[in-house]
Amino acid sequence: MCDCKQGVKFAGTVEQEEKLKAIIEEYKQMQGALMPILQKAQDLYGYLPIEVQKMIAKGLEIPLEEVYGVVTFYSQFSLAPKGKYKVSVCLGTACYVKGSGDIYEKFVRELGVKDGACTEDGMFSLEACRCIGACGLAPVITVNEDVHGRLTVGDVEKIIATYKAKG
Ligand code: FES
Repeated sequence: MCDCKQGVKFAGTVEQEEKLKAIIEEYKQMQGALMPILQKAQDLYGYLPIEVQKMIAKGLEIPLEEVYGVVTFYSQFSLAPKGKYKVSVCLGTACYVKGSGDIYEKFVRELGVKDGACTEDGMFSLEACRCIGACGLAPVITVNEDVHGRLTVGDVEKIIATYKAKG
């Protein structure tokens, strides 16, 4: 089964755990240590599963609820693994009136995932987002750091093919 599916068993390595412990030690004494630790932990694991949150709570000697509360409050943190290519379709007003809802639905049909989930092969995850400040290019999507604007439903297959070709 795919490692990237929500609910799949956590598969962190000993090496990752050692690195996380070192990160916790580095920031532990700092005020507001939780945020930078979570950011670095997400860089390390790609997301923040409950197992990682438990390690952080233990390392900082704070309740797991506190860690979980911060992780779920900030949209930059993810509880589920992401694909190699993270597709975000802007459903902000300017994009929506120009058809981004249909573009999102087209991605759902083509990739077979939605709501932040990722494909079986781990290549793509798909989510909707709010305005990213590029309304002049509406409708807009991002794929990792790349911004694609003035799209139509007809562009979706081409975009997917482009990233698949990159491997
Ligand atoms: S509404 Fe989509 S970029 Fe602003």
